[in-house]
Amino acid sequence: MRWFAWLIIITYLLGARHVMATSDASLRSLADARDKLVGTAVNTTALTNDARYRDFLAREFSSVTPENVMKWQLVEPEQGTPDYTSGDQLVAFARANNQAVRGHTLVWHNQLPEWLTSGGFTSSQLTDMLHAHITDEVSHFAGEISAWDVVNEPFNDDGTWRNSIWYQAMGPDYVALALQWAYDADPAARLYVNDYNTEPLGAKSDAMYALASDLVARGVPLNGVGFQAHLGLQSRFPDTLTPNLQRFADLGLDVAITEADIRMPLPADSDKYVQQAGYFQRLLQSCLVVERCVSFTVWGFDDTHSWVPGAFPGQGAATLLDAAFDPKPAYFALRDALAAGSATAK
Ligand code: G3I
Repeated sequence: MRWFAWLIIITYLLGARHVMATSDASLRSLADARDKLVGTAVNTTALTNDARYRDFLAREFSSVTPENVMKWQLVEPEQGTPDYTSGDQLVAFARANNQAVRGHTLVWHNQLPEWLTSGGFTSSQLTDMLHAHITDEVSHFAGEISAWDVVNEPFNDDGTWRNSIWYQAMGPDYVALALQWAYDADPAARLYVNDYNTEPLGAKSDAMYALASDLVARGVPLNGVGFQAHLGLQSRFPDTLTPNLQRFADLGLDVAITEADIRMPLPADSDKYVQQAGYFQRLLQSCLVVERCVSFTVWGFDDTHSWVPGAFPGQGAATLLDAAFDPKPAYFALRDALAAGSATAK
């Protein structure tokens, strides 16, 4: 009988320890114990102006991604005078708070400077300008950025190449060229290609897989593939995410969830929040079970600073904290997923 009593006491204490460890632990401390980074996109205006925003960012996340300020349109609005001040401020914050920085993004069809898109440049001029841009920006941040989203969103949803200014100038080899130029400027940074709607197995992720396989086979310096994971409750969860991540990992690449958010039709309610929590948790669990999944990043952590309502009228509430900065079930779901199965949660 005595052993039975001890069993109950020990079980209770272990359970209590788990509850305590989970209930007051930050996402980043729990993620540390799982050997993963947990990150967020950062709105640098809020970083400058809002102490509550800064405190949550420092406490909860071990990785930061600039939401906008490292994009070409923002670093070089006037040709010839790149300005990295806002990116430098984020890097300084990250350093002070022992956070990794994910650079975002060097080659994209969007948020390009007006002088570039309407300048009437030839293919050869565009090639030289992209080379110079990558060299300048990656060199500027060399040593500070652990991973770069070098190429962002190269594919259409049907798996064909997006007919971007870069594709038009160089054909599909612009991806390999960009990766090589980034490598030349900072060989220590982990270099990624990143896209959305590539979470499930299917035409678009097959296109990404074919690209990644080809780059690896050719010895191009590709280190990882990013899966943005901008999801919505109106669409079913991408059930094949785990095997999809795993097949990229099997190529010898890192994988990462880079921009997770789960939008919903407004108004939000508690049922939708619960469903949203399930989506966030399943996303994170896929990253936890794939060893080469190195980081899980959300695209902003509070609804006030989310890009979603601006881009999808009538939808929103896509992040972990509501507009009053209160954590939703999604926040606790991420914490629970990180704590589950971890004996060493701090
Ligand atoms: O900089 C101008 C500012 O001068 C002007 O006063 C203001 C007025 O609207 O606009 C500002 O530009 C905004 C820009 O963000 C910088 O803040 C644009 O309107 C706004 O459309 C732009 O949106 C960003 C979007 O990328 C652009 O496509 C979002 O904040 C950002 O979250 C979003 O991020 C992308 C990732 O980089 C790639 N994956 C998809 C993801 C969501 O679209």
